[in-house]
Amino acid sequence: MSKINQAKSHAKPVEFSKNVFAVGSKDAERRFFDTLISLPKGTSYNSYLVKGTLKNALIDTVNPGFEDELIGKITPLLGDLKKLDFIIMNHAEPDHSNAIPKLLKLTKATLLASEKGAQMAEQYYKIPKERIRAVKNNETIALGGKTLRFIYAPWLHWPETMFTFLEEEKILFTCDFFGGHNSNETFDNEKTLTKEELIRDAKEYFAEIMMPFRAMCKIAFQKVKAFSPKIIAPSHGPIYTKPEVILEEYSKWVGGETKNKAIILYVSMWNSTEKMAQHLNDALKKEGIEVRTYNMLDLNLDELARDLIDTKTILLGSPTFLNSLHPLAMHYLNLVAQLK
Ligand code: FEO
Repeated sequence: MSKINQAKSHAKPVEFSKNVFAVGSKDAERRFFDTLISLPKGTSYNSYLVKGTLKNALIDTVNPGFEDELIGKITPLLGDLKKLDFIIMNHAEPDHSNAIPKLLKLTKATLLASEKGAQMAEQYYKIPKERIRAVKNNETIALGGKTLRFIYAPWLHWPETMFTFLEEEKILFTCDFFGGHNSNETFDNEKTLTKEELIRDAKEYFAEIMMPFRAMCKIAFQKVKAFSPKIIAPSHGPIYTKPEVILEEYSKWVGGETKNKAIILYVSMWNSTEKMAQHLNDALKKEGIEVRTYNMLDLNLDELARDLIDTKTILLGSPTFLNSLHPLAMHYLNLVAQLK
């Protein structure tokens, strides 16, 4: 049986603003994302149901394996699944959009996405054209007492990404932007979640998913600030009920603000490179520079990625191996370049 079919989640729907429900799934058992990023706390696939007096909308869906759970949650909230009018796809990656084909088959809902997202939905999920409507940047739809505004925010981290803003309550649904891999807490203010942990998870997420698209993050971040959201609801990890905390951190990360900090990455075959790395580590520290030294043999990628966000200098130490760099050095050099 595949991992996908073993999906388990125990998240119950939570109404966190009047007629706005968190209906996503928590995947505590998932250990890797992109077959690369480790998930010590699993992750969540946050989906949101917004009920108006006239119409109902679902914002983003869930990962493969969690579709039935989502349907089981929203059906009683709607009374009848056929009362779902819109499915909003902020992002086409399967962890947020995989339930869309099944939901469309069970309802008469229209899929709303950016222009690029609409093309992707047709191409990837074979959704008939007549079930999709491409929304324009800044377009709004009225649900009755609730207005949803769509804000294009491309390349976070795919070309079609957009945000959805619930105007009356000032709730911004940002999909991957502001995400963090955490299946434990639904909100930022839960007692089991410290501020340090909240920021560390978000920082790792930013480093591994958003950092290569920093220029686009900067533009999107300005848009977010202009809306002054009261709540930020991403599609991984906790909902921010105090957005000022994560906004302050993001302003540093998207701005590329660096510290007087160095990362030493080394691999050693006969301890000589290790001695050099240690010598540099000590010498730089004496100069008052913050130093993080990693042996590439057993480094933690998530920790390294987080450190890369605000590092001014990277030093790479490798022995000569078959007339070139050691393969581990090549691998990490490539990874650091990809993360930009
Ligand atoms: Fe969480 Fe880019 O998908």
